[in-house]
Amino acid sequence: MGRVMGGMAEVRSEGAWIHADDGRRFLDFGGYGVFILGHRHPDVVEAVHRQIDTHPLASRVFLEPVAARAAEALAAHTPPGLDYVHFVNSGAEATEAALKLARAHGRTSVITTRKGFHGKTLGALSVTANATYQTPFQPLLPDVTQVEYDDPADLEQALAARRDRACVVVEPVQGEGGVRIPRPGYLGRVADLCRAYGALLVVDEIQTGMGRLGTWWGVDAEGVRPDILLTGKGLSGGVVPIAAMTATAEAYAPFGRDPYLHTSTFGASPIACAAALATVGVMEREDTVARAAALGERILTGVRAACAPYEGGLVREVRGRGLLIGIEFTEDQAVGELLLEMIARGVLVNHSLNSTRVLRLTPPAVVEDTALDLFLTTLAEALRSTAARMAG
Ligand SMILES: Cc1ncc(COP(=O)(O)O)c(C=O)c1O
Repeated sequence: MGRVMGGMAEVRSEGAWIHADDGRRFLDFGGYGVFILGHRHPDVVEAVHRQIDTHPLASRVFLEPVAARAAEALAAHTPPGLDYVHFVNSGAEATEAALKLARAHGRTSVITTRKGFHGKTLGALSVTANATYQTPFQPLLPDVTQVEYDDPADLEQALAARRDRACVVVEPVQGEGGVRIPRPGYLGRVADLCRAYGALLVVDEIQTGMGRLGTWWGVDAEGVRPDILLTGKGLSGGVVPIAAMTATAEAYAPFGRDPYLHTSTFGASPIACAAALATVGVMEREDTVARAAALGERILTGVRAACAPYEGGLVREVRGRGLLIGIEFTEDQAVGELLLEMIARGVLVNHSLNSTRVLRLTPPAVVEDTALDLFLTTLAEALRSTAARMAG
């Protein structure tokens, strides 16, 4: 893969830029959704430096204040009632924690959505609806049902057959599924159905949360309060990996009753929690959420204009919310071609793991005007040469 992408190694980063070992620099509009604050935000880096100099990893015997402060800071922004925070080291681990918590409540039947992505560890993979990733590792968790995304009737049918024993895992916008934005009201309907059929609702905001959609959380748009909300990626500040499962008091109770029920040596490490705490602080001070909303609109408008000449041909649709933007093509091959054209011109973008025809943009909220212009010019050029190559 390294050779296909050009063969260079990345060695340094700051803001929206990554530097390679051959002296070139790349504008990072990819990063799989991690770099909402850009690379190496100075406040996050400083907090992590300070933590390394004082107490990077904990004994796990005593109370540790940085984890507590990070949990408090995060819970101050989660929907009301989601006050319990369980820090882990990756998004997939947050999904694992949620699946186990659901089981502890007797919710052993799991409902996920087609093209949903929730991680690749065995439990998480069981709800990541992609045969390519699942098939080599079967059998996965039993009793997992896939329903159509953005289809409350399909969900209701599955729930009706599993009254009081289901757990529903859903993304507010399917990121890896190809930036699929459901119709307004979908998430609210999912929440109502979960309540009606006694199901536990897990909303996976690992990609959509932390301001990515121009709101703190995707659920904010519909005032939905899930039982469990997963976060990761941006929570790291782009500096130290960390993710979290946040839950209501009722949902969290089994883990609260026995703190050894679900543990991880490095979970809630002071060094990662220092990064998360600093990240929430930066987001408050710099109003990252509002910036993401405003910048996202500008980028979406620009991307739509660049793609307009190809609509009805190579480009099927451009869609986005906040800083999660997808370009859907009519042919699989276009994604790879365009991605390589962009890299050759100095811009990084991503494909989508669960959708072969969608190129995905997850830029930081800190893109300067000159960088935005550069991105849009590059996109227009790369589209032109991709279209020409594919026509030829
Ligand atoms: C919605 C969602 N959930 C879970 C994950 C898994 O996170 P990680 O790769 O940190 O395990 C991802 C990663 O792309 C994701 O987009």
